[in-house]
Amino acid sequence: MACELGKAIRQKEFYHSEDYGFTNHGAWGTVPRRVLDVQKRYLEEVEQNVDHWFRRSSDKYVNAAKQAAADFLGANVANINFVENATRGLNSILKSIPLSPGDAILATNFTYNAVANACRAASAKSQGTEVVAFNITFPISSREAFIKNYTDFLDAHKNIKVAVIDVISSFPSMLLPWKELTAACRERGILACLDGAHVPGQLRIALEECGADFFVGNLHKWSFCPRGCAVIWVHQAHHHLVRPTVTSHIYDKKQPFPGDFDLQGTRDLTAYACVPDAIKFYHDIAGGWDEVLAHNCSLVERFTEDLVNAFGTSQLQIPVDMRSPFMRHVKLPELPGWQGTQDDAIKLMNTLYEKGVLAAVECIEDELWLRISAHVYNTPEDYERLKSVVLEMAEIK
Ligand SMILES: Cc1ncc(COP(=O)(O)O)c(C=O)c1O
Repeated sequence: MACELGKAIRQKEFYHSEDYGFTNHGAWGTVPRRVLDVQKRYLEEVEQNVDHWFRRSSDKYVNAAKQAAADFLGANVANINFVENATRGLNSILKSIPLSPGDAILATNFTYNAVANACRAASAKSQGTEVVAFNITFPISSREAFIKNYTDFLDAHKNIKVAVIDVISSFPSMLLPWKELTAACRERGILACLDGAHVPGQLRIALEECGADFFVGNLHKWSFCPRGCAVIWVHQAHHHLVRPTVTSHIYDKKQPFPGDFDLQGTRDLTAYACVPDAIKFYHDIAGGWDEVLAHNCSLVERFTEDLVNAFGTSQLQIPVDMRSPFMRHVKLPELPGWQGTQDDAIKLMNTLYEKGVLAAVECIEDELWLRISAHVYNTPEDYERLKSVVLEMAEIK
């Protein structure tokens, strides 16, 4: 039965401390009480008879979890497996793709740092290969202009073998025209690898129809799973190609994916086992897609406007249809003593934290920006609190 979103669901279903205004869901996600309770029960069950758990029960739980994740993401269960996080999944994919001298991996100047490093490490494995970055600058006039610039870049770099495409980027957070970019890559024979770290729970997706070659998405960000839970999806045509970064028991099979992502040494499988309960929470307690979308979008839109007006600044200059569903950017006002550098962005985030507000701060094009988020537990007070801390620091009355 759905709970009223905002204050009611926060008090009843989440552990959040009242000492903080929490608008940084995009960083680590958050786990509801009842999902954590399920995980605690699994952890106890493991210890009651650890042999039984690993030999008998875990398969049953993890297989049910795979099916739940596949249903949630529109995937055929035969094309997915679990990995601990998006970083690990993307590493596995990128390091599995054979590169020849002259080949390039395509990222952007805003590819998530760990993923950009994975691209570099994958390229470093094969001599004579490189990572090229598509440069995103602001303002972005339209989706169509963005797609054209990207495809022009593809045409100017004939050596691209694989492109890492953010579906929803992190910082700045944008909903990229990923379907069009994927299609443009496929038309040119380029493998499309979707970084969907922020997708499950934030964007409805049907993986079997996504048109890409590979996808990795975190279940521990927006869909309430315990941390250490992500899905890797590989198009059937590439099952022979993709191997986990960690070589373990299953190695010599002709069709390694998804099987050899299963037995990855001794590890905690309880986060995976919780997937059906987390998805049930999303649908039954939080109200499912429509209710979550309506609540989060209206909250994040309303308070982006509100903060922009109060600060006398602007939101990121991107087309409305490239705004990410539950995250937005607000330019910070002049803050005495603070510069538009990445160092100051990190320090400022810590200062905000000490003042009781949790929001991401980054430097974009030499200016400091806030990234705010909305999820089912957020209330207007979270953003009001953020606003008053920033206004005080900016000495704006
Ligand atoms: C766009 C993007 N890709 C990949 C990741 C990596 O996710 P994880 O830390 O769960 O591996 C993140 C994390 O925030 C991200 O924002």
